[in-house]
Amino acid sequence: MKAVVLGSGGWGTALSMVLCDNGHEVTLWSHNPEKAQEMEKTRENPLLKGVRLPDSLKITSDISCVKDAAVVVSASPSYAVRGTARKAEPYLNVSTILVSVSKGIERDTNLRMSQIVQEETKNKCKVVALSGPSHAEEVSIRMPTGCVAACPDQVAACFVQDTFMNDYFRVYTSPDIVGVELSGALKNVVALSCGICDGMGFQDNTKALLMTRSMVELSRLGEKLGGDRATFGGLAGMGDLIVTCTSMHSRNRRAGILIGQGKSAQEAMDEVGAVVEGYYAAESVEQLARKEGLEMPICHCAYEVLYHGKQVRDVVTELMTRAKKNENEGGWSYPVR
Ligand SMILES: NC(=O)c1ccc[n+]([C@@H]2O[C@H](COP(=O)([O-])OP(=O)(O)OC[C@H]3O[C@@H](n4cnc5c(N)ncnc54)[C@H](O)[C@@H]3O)[C@@H](O)[C@H]2O)c1
Repeated sequence: MKAVVLGSGGWGTALSMVLCDNGHEVTLWSHNPEKAQEMEKTRENPLLKGVRLPDSLKITSDISCVKDAAVVVSASPSYAVRGTARKAEPYLNVSTILVSVSKGIERDTNLRMSQIVQEETKNKCKVVALSGPSHAEEVSIRMPTGCVAACPDQVAACFVQDTFMNDYFRVYTSPDIVGVELSGALKNVVALSCGICDGMGFQDNTKALLMTRSMVELSRLGEKLGGDRATFGGLAGMGDLIVTCTSMHSRNRRAGILIGQGKSAQEAMDEVGAVVEGYYAAESVEQLARKEGLEMPICHCAYEVLYHGKQVRDVVTELMTRAKKNENEGGWSYPVR
């Protein structure tokens, strides 16, 4: 089957390799012709050092490569998803299944990535979101990994499950595209906050408190926006939160560590040198929470630190001395099955 992956970052490249392993005819598209040529010559992506690209993988910077593809994966960084989908649209067939794997919420519109892809491709194709705890570095060396293919259309979700699943990449299906995408996008705020904790020298107790209570906040928002609470306890929710909050692969966490050590948000992002999506997600969460009238104290404090330079120590005291509560107050409890 013909598959095209749009976006030659770490994740697009790792997923191209999964598709090659599954016997598909795969093309990896880069927006940058020099980068495409370099990868073609070296058969390596510098973002995945030491990993040899499969001989069968085609690399191009010509967007017409999406023509006649049965599956097209949208894997650009979130800020480039709209532009890339717009370029691809004239070449897409209605039967093509689009797989959105970027994580983020668009600034200003607060749209999810699959909504942007839908919009830019004029609702021509079915869009499935694929998300979960999955570092590109580990998938590219075939470490056992699990993700969720989410779409209200079960046939499309099962198609993506069949296309990607193999003995090291396990894929579950879910109808809850809203919950899967929101949990993947919003958890970056928590990763940043966990990094801040690490940078301040706090240890395991603090991180467990932060991760668990943040998940309460995120699932509260997710449900309000139409997601299923159960999704937030699954791979795309808690799973992704664990992986992002505990790993040095996470640039959100690395940026947080620098902020916890006393750097400003801008200095930390400059030092990390790559897009820190949690910074932008913090603003989206703040806007959405305000609009929905929801209490999200941890995310709000992260926003205050990142955007208004509030002192981290003051914020910690503020959070720890909030009014006493019952743990399940505010409506969050594990769903009864
Ligand atoms: N890296 C991971 O492990 C991982 C896992 C799951 C999901 N994701 C998500 O996948 C998306 C891509 O992340 P990544 O880690 O592969 O990115 P990356 O930071 O590794 O690479 C970004 C790449 O995007 C390309 N790019 C830059 N500007 C562009 C533009 N204007 N148009 C098109 N492409 C452009 C560049 O070629 C660059 O190599 C993100 O939304 C991320 O959250 C990443």
